[in-house]
Amino acid sequence: MSPSSRLARLTECLAQWQPLWRPLPFQHLHAPWLERFPGLAAALLRLSDADVDRLQAEPWYDSPLAFWLPVTELADLVALPRLESDAAPLPGTWSQHIEGRKWQQIEAFLAHARLSPAALAVEWCAGKGHLSRTLARQQQRAVTALEWEPALCRHGQALAARQQVTVDMRCQDVMAPEALTWLNARTHALALHACGDLHVRLLQAAIATGSAVTLSPCCYQRTASPSYSPLSQQAQRLCHLHGLALSRDDLALAVQETVTAPQGVRRRRERAGAWRLGFDLLQREVRGEHDYLPVPSLAYGKLPDTFDEFCRWAAACKQVVLPPRVDWQAFEAQGWQRQAQVSRFELVRHVFRRPLEVWLALDRLALLEEAGFAADIGIFCERDLTPRNLMLRAVKLN
Ligand SMILES: C[S@@+](CC[C@H](N)C(=O)[O-])C[C@H]1O[C@@H](n2cnc3c(N)ncnc32)[C@H](O)[C@@H]1O
Repeated sequence: MSPSSRLARLTECLAQWQPLWRPLPFQHLHAPWLERFPGLAAALLRLSDADVDRLQAEPWYDSPLAFWLPVTELADLVALPRLESDAAPLPGTWSQHIEGRKWQQIEAFLAHARLSPAALAVEWCAGKGHLSRTLARQQQRAVTALEWEPALCRHGQALAARQQVTVDMRCQDVMAPEALTWLNARTHALALHACGDLHVRLLQAAIATGSAVTLSPCCYQRTASPSYSPLSQQAQRLCHLHGLALSRDDLALAVQETVTAPQGVRRRRERAGAWRLGFDLLQREVRGEHDYLPVPSLAYGKLPDTFDEFCRWAAACKQVVLPPRVDWQAFEAQGWQRQAQVSRFELVRHVFRRPLEVWLALDRLALLEEAGFAADIGIFCERDLTPRNLMLRAVKLN
């Protein structure tokens, strides 16, 4: 299936099913779609914990939701090609100073980035320049790395000097107008996991200058604008035709899938979720209101030890005055019950998570093609290395 047919059909599906994937189950005591799909809700509530875990990781395989939702068609629509590579593995010693998973991502990214020998390599939002150093070593070429944090630039420059590779770390805000001066028709810009506006800026810069680009997009929701304007004319037309308008919050769904966390971390997350939902029931009762009240997130390890301490903290954050006597046990138990329900209703959103991510990536591809680039898209690494495993490659046609 051509990318443009995929984009067209995905737009239709996302638009048609938005009443189901858009509402956040933890914000609602009753899913807004419950009355239209009572059978779906009942089937979800019957799922075992093991099935919930399985469907979170594999929404496409043997899904009981397929009776109500277009699971099979969506599975086909998101099945982008795996990019091929015959690159030899890089020496393991090169991974020094690079965290394990990041090193493997860099290795996979470079195995699929096709730079012409004459191209001048420029890394966009380079951090400490790990990708740039690896590329410089692998291909014996000079690399310019753009990063706006001076400390990261200094650190990256020191690492490059120690490894005697030609990497020029440049302190540059890529959103500033001067950022364009680093790109031209002879450059090849590379960006591994550049967030929202940062990678959109890269695409615009490549279009303005004719630079080749290899990009794995990330965090689509990190944007200054609260609503998403489709980048390509094709997506603009399709959104208009089918009535699809995406907010910044909607875009967060596209990156909701994360690498499975260790058991201990998952258990702590579940407890935090159950307590939040328990507090939500309590605050609704205390305030006599039926709205969800967002509570700030807590840094890792900062969750109080008990449910009542958590509620007192949350109440103080939101200026909710708690009554002197609260049946903490009852609210905590209801929080856990809601947690079980919410994780089941979330499975509906999981079905549309990858379709939305692929849709956003295809919008970027269409933008490049409309601007006269030869572009392709595919999967550059396994999902357990990073779920953000889509790569766009584009070269300006003469
Ligand atoms: C998600 S990290 C990716 C870093 C690296 N590519 C990697 O995969 O490890 C994003 C990097 O972009 C940098 N950054 C954020 N905003 C920037 C801007 N406006 N200009 C330049 N760099 C920026 C951050 O400091 C950070 O190092």
